[in-house]
Amino acid sequence: MSNRTIALDDRLHAYLLEHSLREDPVRRRLREYTASHELARMQIAPEQGQLMSLLVELLAARNAIEIGTFTGYSALCIAQALPADGELICCDLSEEWTAVGISYWEEAGVRHKIDLRIAPALETLDGLLAEGRAGDFDLAFIDADKGHYLDYYRRCLALVRRGGLILFDNTLWGGSVADPQDCEPDTLAIRDLNDALHHDPAITLSLVPIGDGLTLARKR
Ligand SMILES: C[S@@+](CC[C@H](N)C(=O)[O-])C[C@H]1O[C@@H](n2cnc3c(N)ncnc32)[C@H](O)[C@@H]1O
Repeated sequence: MSNRTIALDDRLHAYLLEHSLREDPVRRRLREYTASHELARMQIAPEQGQLMSLLVELLAARNAIEIGTFTGYSALCIAQALPADGELICCDLSEEWTAVGISYWEEAGVRHKIDLRIAPALETLDGLLAEGRAGDFDLAFIDADKGHYLDYYRRCLALVRRGGLILFDNTLWGGSVADPQDCEPDTLAIRDLNDALHHDPAITLSLVPIGDGLTLARKR
């Protein structure tokens, strides 16, 4: 047995899902609905959503921020794990895509926890900082335009409390981060982020190979 992370072929991935996924019916229907969307690949994997719910529970999180909501699956995973009076601020640009999420959030009984802000995420984050909400949040999940990941990180580092968690999606970027031939702008942005996080003493770090790569950064 090697001490490196195991590779998942289709059979082992199916086993993982069959033996660990506990996807609630509303989540499953939202995922199945989004599967027919031409940008369905943007949605996080269900096993990642389950891990994120667990992290919210472990932190006993009450307040969270999501950057990049799309049709609302990851927001549903976070909101369902928050307490009844919890707050999740969701940042997105699309009324159309997030409207899908709203109907499923309502069905799941978590709509009241979600404050959806349709605006460039940097504006929303700067607004929260200007309102004096630095240190107010337990968790942030970053999953929008990759070119701004470092900008989102700096703001989220100020907005989360000490001991709070910042999650970054797509940090393995389909494997292209490790392909020296790939110099696409999004690949370069994710590489820059990964390098910056690796050397940042302000956080405790783990890059978890789940979904397309999920980085966990705990604010020290
Ligand atoms: C990868 S998708 C999010 C997927 C979502 N977390 C899920 O699991 O279904 C990225 C989202 O970021 C949004 N977005 C892109 N640029 C943005 C910006 N500057 N500010 C806010 N949202 C943005 C897009 O509209 C899109 O819905």
